[in-house]
Amino acid sequence: MRARLERDFERFRQELPADLAGHVRESYRIDLTARYLGFTLPHPIGKGSGQLSLNQEQLETDRAAGLAFVVLKTVIAEDAAGARAMGAWAIHETRMRVEKVRSGSGLDGWTVTWQGRGWDRSFDDYLELVRVAGEMTRGGGMVAVPSAKYHLPKVDEDFREGEYRHTTGRLAGAWGGDFLPLEKDFSPTLAGDALADERERILRWLREVPRLIRAGSGGVPVRVALKLMNARHGEPFQLDMVRAARGADALVCFNRLWSEVRGTAYGGYDLSDRNLRALEAVKTARLEHPPVSGTGNISSGRMILEYAKLGCESVQLHTFFQLPLSEYPATAGSRTQRALHALLFHPSSGLIAGLLDLEQAGRIHRRDGELRYLDVTAS
Ligand SMILES: Cc1cc2nc3c(=O)[nH]c(=O)nc-3n(C[C@H](O)[C@H](O)[C@H](O)COP(=O)(O)O)c2cc1C
Repeated sequence: MRARLERDFERFRQELPADLAGHVRESYRIDLTARYLGFTLPHPIGKGSGQLSLNQEQLETDRAAGLAFVVLKTVIAEDAAGARAMGAWAIHETRMRVEKVRSGSGLDGWTVTWQGRGWDRSFDDYLELVRVAGEMTRGGGMVAVPSAKYHLPKVDEDFREGEYRHTTGRLAGAWGGDFLPLEKDFSPTLAGDALADERERILRWLREVPRLIRAGSGGVPVRVALKLMNARHGEPFQLDMVRAARGADALVCFNRLWSEVRGTAYGGYDLSDRNLRALEAVKTARLEHPPVSGTGNISSGRMILEYAKLGCESVQLHTFFQLPLSEYPATAGSRTQRALHALLFHPSSGLIAGLLDLEQAGRIHRRDGELRYLDVTAS
């Protein structure tokens, strides 16, 4: 199998097989089936919300590459009159810098430096994209899910329910079908904002937001994923947030770190170190919580498995889809294809190699002759 992996890695540098998961199952007897927000996925690798899911063309490219799912850029909620409490998040900024970053533990990774925030075009434009996403999902091409940021009040304030109703209702109408899947973003820029100064305020948001979103959909069932921030209140607070978010259907853990000094969000190994420590604490505490999708500095199949061992049933990447082309071992194809090639087939750092190692170490076992990705998350 190792020799076969070497061969596949070489021959797929040019082009990936059309049915990635099918190929892996047939060649290695490995079932990569994964889950995100109630969807069963052919493999665990998806794209996190951001600048790489702004239009139909990007979605088509990702579908053609074989990505399992995509979360659309975060839209800023509005009420029926077009008023947006979180309007400060809808700013226009196109310039992104992809840079190397060294972590506190001395490891070199990548980060994207960017001053932008949420969707900066009209809500109607966003609804057009959501329509395409719904059709693509139901057509079986690729799961594509919208993301929104709604009004978040201070402790003594009420939620602006008009925003929740108007935005959720229109998203449900545009996505179509008989339910709406939706991520609610608590972003690093929010973590760095005075709004997130108080712990009790954040915990109240996490407790109440899923219900408010569901109540605002005009009767359409909503599956709500809460994408949790890395708050500035120390690591034990990450656990308190997970506890408070029990009412969600899924959690995305955890969005980028906030640098007070530079006034920007960042990633790299500081992010994955912190996320994995927090997820480990959640596991050790045996907290009951919704299924988790992992995010943060995922740049190899081995890193996917670090998140999987702590329960992540899928993963969402952003930075790894933005690297200079010279960083990918593939020599042709879109960045998404090149990333998938490295993540899955790299003979030492890829997901298949990592799963074979876990088998060798006795950590997972073949059932009916097959190794299963989801067995890692349950072990
Ligand atoms: C330029 C950029 C823009 C992003 N925009 C959003 C966003 O609008 N909503 C959101 O939920 N996450 C956003 N993210 C966070 C990513 O989806 C992802 O969770 C995070 O960057 C950690 O993954 P990574 O280390 O692979 O980049 C953004 C990230 C980057 C780098």
